[in-house]
Amino acid sequence: MALDSILPGAIVRRSSHDVEFDRVLGGGIVPGSITLIGGQPGIGKSTLLLQVALSWQGKVLYVSGEESAEQIKMRADRVNQQKSQTYILAETHLEAVIKEVGVVEPDLIIVDSIQTVYTNTLESAPGTVSQVRDCTSILQRLAKEQNIPVIVIGHITKEGSLAGPKILEHVVDTVLQFEGDRHHSFRILRTLKNRFGSTDEIGIYEMMQHGMIPVENPFKIFLQEKSNLSGSAVAATLEGQRPMLIEVQALVGNAVYGTPQRSTTGFDLRRMHMLLAVLEKRCGLFFGQMDVFLNIAGGLRVTDPATDLAVVAALVSSLEDLTMPPQTCLAGEVGLSGEIRSVQRLEQRIAEAGRLGFEQIFIPAAQATALDVKPGSMRLVQVGHIQELYDQLF
Ligand SMILES: Nc1ncnc2c1ncn2[C@@H]1O[C@H](COP(=O)(O)OP(=O)(O)OP(=O)(O)O)[C@@H](O)[C@H]1O
Ligand SMILES: [Mg+2]
Repeated sequence: MALDSILPGAIVRRSSHDVEFDRVLGGGIVPGSITLIGGQPGIGKSTLLLQVALSWQGKVLYVSGEESAEQIKMRADRVNQQKSQTYILAETHLEAVIKEVGVVEPDLIIVDSIQTVYTNTLESAPGTVSQVRDCTSILQRLAKEQNIPVIVIGHITKEGSLAGPKILEHVVDTVLQFEGDRHHSFRILRTLKNRFGSTDEIGIYEMMQHGMIPVENPFKIFLQEKSNLSGSAVAATLEGQRPMLIEVQALVGNAVYGTPQRSTTGFDLRRMHMLLAVLEKRCGLFFGQMDVFLNIAGGLRVTDPATDLAVVAALVSSLEDLTMPPQTCLAGEVGLSGEIRSVQRLEQRIAEAGRLGFEQIFIPAAQATALDVKPGSMRLVQVGHIQELYDQLF
């Protein structure tokens, strides 16, 4: 078929009536698509998808190989009291599931989890590589042929990758990851692959007594307990496309036990080692005999290089026991010579900081000229090198 002869068919999406879930999918669920959602045990995958099922406008077949119908009913009562057209099938035999699809005629199918279902065509046990792969392919065919969207839950291995073959990720249209720190209540839904939208979106939820509550203002979670002591700095980061202000905390103290300890939570340890080396070499600050602990508040894990500047500020603030000026945040990547490098979407970060009441932001000097923002009441402090940052801050 000639490409030119194909009429452009717009992607029709159906809303899940969960703003965060729709957002990560690129605007809603695409009929006939198959989505895989992975996450650590107990993170809330079943809760989230049951909520999606309950708020879906139409018939849903929720297949559970992990829990009994009564257990699911209890969860449903906990998260939602409204009437819904959700059918529960506690079944692991895929052929029986397909039969039930013919009876119920759902317009959304949820399978919890892909590791528990098995097909007759193979003799191996559920959860084995071949079973997981074949069951996914069968479900994918079902989705395409009957134009029903299918969402499957997948377990995650200790190392953090989706259990089962990598091929699983190739077969499905969309791969989502549900993550968060078990000891904190917020959860992040991330897109790892999406054939129908960008992979830059994230969804944020707070896990409450009555289920996953979408968080429209992440600031509330990540900054509400911010301290005004030394060692605390705020980074204007980007998570996916969403600007977020997060608190970086550092604790630098004399090493009590011979070898100094270095540890990080939520930030790459090697990156911190690099930043410490740069501070030593370019600013003459010595951390040699110091214990250094770094923590991203709220249990968040950040990878945005623009966090560097706040990490450096927090480290120096703790080392010198000087507090940061109030209502101040930072965005900038630090290079090996101590130079402060440009970051992505600076305007967006500045806008978010302004919206949240910050009064000044430290930004890479190189980017200031290209900036297309009316700073308003925000003071933009341009810094080109970490030595300048030090002089300006303390
Ligand atoms: N009655 C309750 N009130 C508040 N929170 C609860 C209640 N029951 C369970 N939870 C929370 O829900 C979480 C379990 O969520 P869920 O079963 O959706 O996770 P999951 O990712 O599906 O786990 P698994 O991998 O075991 O299937 C638990 O960690 C628990 O903290
Ligand atoms: Mg579950």
